[in-house]
Amino acid sequence: MERISVKELLSTAPLQQEIEVNGWVKTFRSNRFIALNDGSTINNIQCVVDFEKFEDSLIKSISTGAAIKVKGNLVESQGRGQNVEIRVNDLFIHGTADADTYPIQPKKHSLEFLREKAHLRVRTNTFSAVMRLRSALSYAVHTYFQKNGFYYFHAPIITGSDAEGAGEMFRVTALDAKTPPLTDTGEVNYKEDFFGKETNLTVSGQLEAEAYAMALGKVYTFGPTFRAENSNTSRHLAEFWMIEPEMAFYDLDANMDLAEDFIKWVLQYVLDNCEEDLKFLEHRLLDEEKSKPQAERSEMPLIEKLRFVADNNFKRVSYTEAIDILRNCKPNKKKKFEFVIEEWGADLQSEHERFLVEKHFKCPVILFDYPANIKAFYMRLNEDGKTVRAMDVLFPGIGEIVGGSQREERLDVLQQKMADLGIEEEELWWYLDLRKFGTAVHSGFGLGFERLVQFATGMGNIRDVIPFPRTPQNAAF
Ligand code: 4AD
Ligand code: MG
Repeated sequence: MERISVKELLSTAPLQQEIEVNGWVKTFRSNRFIALNDGSTINNIQCVVDFEKFEDSLIKSISTGAAIKVKGNLVESQGRGQNVEIRVNDLFIHGTADADTYPIQPKKHSLEFLREKAHLRVRTNTFSAVMRLRSALSYAVHTYFQKNGFYYFHAPIITGSDAEGAGEMFRVTALDAKTPPLTDTGEVNYKEDFFGKETNLTVSGQLEAEAYAMALGKVYTFGPTFRAENSNTSRHLAEFWMIEPEMAFYDLDANMDLAEDFIKWVLQYVLDNCEEDLKFLEHRLLDEEKSKPQAERSEMPLIEKLRFVADNNFKRVSYTEAIDILRNCKPNKKKKFEFVIEEWGADLQSEHERFLVEKHFKCPVILFDYPANIKAFYMRLNEDGKTVRAMDVLFPGIGEIVGGSQREERLDVLQQKMADLGIEEEELWWYLDLRKFGTAVHSGFGLGFERLVQFATGMGNIRDVIPFPRTPQNAAF
């Protein structure tokens, strides 16, 4: 007898074969039909039980959420809705799920409700589809870089530097084991530092990736990063995963080419390999859209949207051109896109980005050459002395999905910039070393993995594309 997954059963297993399958009960109808799922696919296998053959107590213990093992023969199904089913010969209950207290019932639960049940929500169709897609996207990310000559580089999680210079860091403190854990006043006795040094959880692996690119040529990180920003939006997490390629001898144009090629490739990968889950999520979205006013409905179904992005060029526009477009744009009748651009040099707000992507160009946009004063210290200064070789990739419905730049490789210019911003050279002495010893043009970018998963699954809230979201209200779970 072969132990087999539901996915294999539904696709490749020969009829009549005796098989054994484990999974969780989705539904149990008429004491006869079990819809069984084991996580391998969005689809369930129907198991037909002749209840007279089994003890009453066994039949009674089958309910939604129970983990069971089924042995039986795979046969052609007479019923509608499935081609094959299992005629059950033997049943074993791994673990029951009390119907009165099991929170995931066979009905539609709101995403908000499920967020409170992060440990169980992956048992729903929506979350299992999202998390399988997340896994496929991770695989695609590694495959793309490994195929293209990049080395996977593990950036440290604990670091002494603030890569973005934005001060949005979580400090690392060590509980001092030698002194009593509580002070006289009853407070927890934290050491102020990490073995005598002030450190924080990394906001980005970029600076360390630069060191590695300047020896291995092309590297990428793919790991957790942390931001202590108190934003409660549908696009921000305190802990998120970032993919950061860094390449020696790449200028900004080559960097933009890479970002575009990479995003298209991973989206094509899921189009080619995750059709069932994408179809399910597309259906889910169409259902959700029905309850929205016409104006807020998405113009394209999910799969078509992914194909569109995978097949068409992104629009590349300089910041200065973008400002001109925004200044000249006319508010529409509903005054939906009426905004103020104070002056050249102002940072773009998400409403500006959304206008450019969703209304003006109607495709992903790469904005480049931003004003130096709104971007991080490490970006290469242009000849004009006021813009830097920065790029942001903006996506419909998401906003900024990638931030990157060509890095300042000239020691004197970098030192001047750090001095202007009050960044101590001692803090980044090793980073300056990279400019003293064998410096060269180099570039890289960071892609927020959850924003990519949001785009690929159509999920509106970033909290619903990461297993255990960390946000200001939801960290301790
Ligand atoms: O634009 P950011 O801050 O750029 C960097 O960190 C660079 N050091 C990357 C590099 O050049 N290697 O962040 C990069 C991307 C953003 O475009 C966004 O997709 C994502 O990371 N991101 C977040 N995602 C979720 N929650 C947050 N709080 C995020 N902050 C940034
Ligand atoms: Mg950014």
